[in-house]
Amino acid sequence: MSFDEIYRYACSDPESFWADAAEKVFWYRKWDRVLDDSQAPFYRWFSGGETNACYNAVDLHVEQGRADQPALIHDSPITGTGQTLTYRELRDHVARCAGVLVDLGVRRGDRVIIYMPMIPEAVVAMLACARIGAIHSVVFGGFASRELATRIDDCRPGVIVAASCGLEPGRVVAYQPLLDRAIDLARHKPGRCLVLQRPQARAEMTPGRDVDWHAAMEQATDADCVPVPATDPLYILYTSGTTGQPKGVVRDTGGGIVSLKWTMKNIYNVEPGDVYWAASDVGWVVGHSYIVYAPLFNGNTTILFEGKPVGTPDPGVFWRIIAEHGVKVLFTAPTAFRAIRKEDPQGEHVRKHDLSCLQSLFLAGERTDPDTLNWARQQLGVPVIDHWWQTETGWSICANCLGIEHLPVKDGSPTRPVPGWQLQALDEAGNVVGPGTIGSLVARLPLPPGTFPTLWGARDRYFDSYLKRFPGYYETGDAGYIDENGYVFVMSRTDDVINVAGHRLSTGALEEVLASHPDVAECAVMGVNDPLKGELPLGCLVLSSGVDKAHDQVVKECIRLVREAIGPVAAFKLAAVVKRLPKTRSGKILRGTMKKIADGAEWKMPATIDDPAILDEIAGSLAGLGYPAGRDDDQSSP
Ligand code: COA
Ligand code: AMP
Repeated sequence: MSFDEIYRYACSDPESFWADAAEKVFWYRKWDRVLDDSQAPFYRWFSGGETNACYNAVDLHVEQGRADQPALIHDSPITGTGQTLTYRELRDHVARCAGVLVDLGVRRGDRVIIYMPMIPEAVVAMLACARIGAIHSVVFGGFASRELATRIDDCRPGVIVAASCGLEPGRVVAYQPLLDRAIDLARHKPGRCLVLQRPQARAEMTPGRDVDWHAAMEQATDADCVPVPATDPLYILYTSGTTGQPKGVVRDTGGGIVSLKWTMKNIYNVEPGDVYWAASDVGWVVGHSYIVYAPLFNGNTTILFEGKPVGTPDPGVFWRIIAEHGVKVLFTAPTAFRAIRKEDPQGEHVRKHDLSCLQSLFLAGERTDPDTLNWARQQLGVPVIDHWWQTETGWSICANCLGIEHLPVKDGSPTRPVPGWQLQALDEAGNVVGPGTIGSLVARLPLPPGTFPTLWGARDRYFDSYLKRFPGYYETGDAGYIDENGYVFVMSRTDDVINVAGHRLSTGALEEVLASHPDVAECAVMGVNDPLKGELPLGCLVLSSGVDKAHDQVVKECIRLVREAIGPVAAFKLAAVVKRLPKTRSGKILRGTMKKIADGAEWKMPATIDDPAILDEIAGSLAGLGYPAGRDDDQSSP
């Protein structure tokens, strides 16, 4: 069938469409209803069904002839080590780890936080939770203690599974002090921590609380897969919202399995047995969906890469891995390609490797700028697909579905809505805007399976944040337009979320941290354009009257504060002390105008500004930070 036919089928009869997809999944008990709309606009998929994500990811393949196929290849240029686990070995590790969790008192529905870097034990721990019906919540290693504490308090885990350290180029990140501090800060105290000692930095164990991973694995007995309702949460993954309180995105079990398995063939065009590599981190949604669950549901070999696109040891590491492991599809963020291109613009490292196994490259996490897209296409000679999705959706809203039909590519567009998604661009009043006109991008309800049915413990926030403004639709928080051929162009966010190296950050959350500095009276953070990371956060600080500290000192303290409160991943290094912030007469800070000035974009004096002279002062402060970037070059050009 053509893309159009499949798309129409999914829109006109979603229940049959997704029931067909669900037939390819293992169920202990089939569903009573494919789509339960009895509590619309809160929908549930496959209610009454019982399944298990770990069984579908691991045991099923062992039983069906893939026991000796590599399931997971850990490639760690940062430690110079590697490890391959077959499906049988993965099953054995996971079953044992599940036994450890049971011994530690974890039961179906309990939450387990996983604070681990890109090591096989992180995947084992995730699958072990799924095996016994526990709900995992992986916290990215680049977050600091306070962020971890917020997540501990929100999901109240009985157990935390952690590694002693993570490894960044040239730096060992000791996790144990961060974990200890987080537990100190949190109101909820998890009973036990299962700690994996890595040789690069050993954790100091807290007696009575901490349990050694290896010792526990030796003593435990294996635990089997537990049938769980399809509507039970598989995991919670926190993502930035508009405040310092992150949103706990819930993924349900049945819908998650059905949709992710469907995407492997239909979007990525991979067959069971193929090697698939998502160069992301298990702490992000891309890691959950495409390092762990989807490739394993589909019987693929997945690669777990502990390294960076550049510097571990050089910009050829991606090509080495593709050639060495026979990778068919690579999925990463555009920022990784910009980093590689910067160090190897001529693609000399690309040509050192035989990349004939590579069939396509998929990019997501931020818009792929046409320059990066074209460079990747030229260097690799394979289709380069930009696809758009979010933590909330778990898989792509828009993509070029290579397994169905390779549609013509339009640079700057993630192509068309994937079957299951019906998109519109709406104006402020909720009217559909015409082709080419920018509006809020929204998806018609019900969302397809595998998207988020709720936010953890925050049903009202789910409704208020996503469903309230445009009744009958899910508000993506992205703005963009749809052209006359149905191609979608995602241009910007409609809220305060910014995208830094493919990582999602809330400027509101950064502002909350800066405002907590005793010398800061007021502040504004905006995302300014950056040629490598897409955006970088930049803070403007107004000091309290009477503060006579050197401005440089306050800036340094603020930068340190953000690093300590949110973590290095915030990449907050740009801040200036300003006398005042530009505001409208009603007191709204004009962040958008400041951003335009910083980006060197065209801007108009807002009619509602209370004091136009402030913008000159702001421009002076931004110039002091080197913004607009490239300004000196422009001035020196003839
Ligand atoms: N644990 C601890 N610290 C971490 C971390 C982790 N897991 N990940 C990143 N950090 C730290 C980095 O060490 C860096 O610290 P520094 O300020 O001391 O240098 C800081 O957080 C910012 O990291 P990052 O944004 O990753 O920048 P970078 O300069 O180290 O690397 C890129 C730049 C482009 C190579 C890198 O961002 C990258 O590979 N991006 C791909 C993004 C991605 O996979 N996104 C997922 C969506 S698909
Ligand atoms: P996250 O939840 O961290 O995956 O971030 C989701 C956000 O990243 C989206 O809402 C978009 O703003 C942005 N994003 C992700 N992929 C794309 C893409 N292909 N094109 C444009 N924006 C994207």
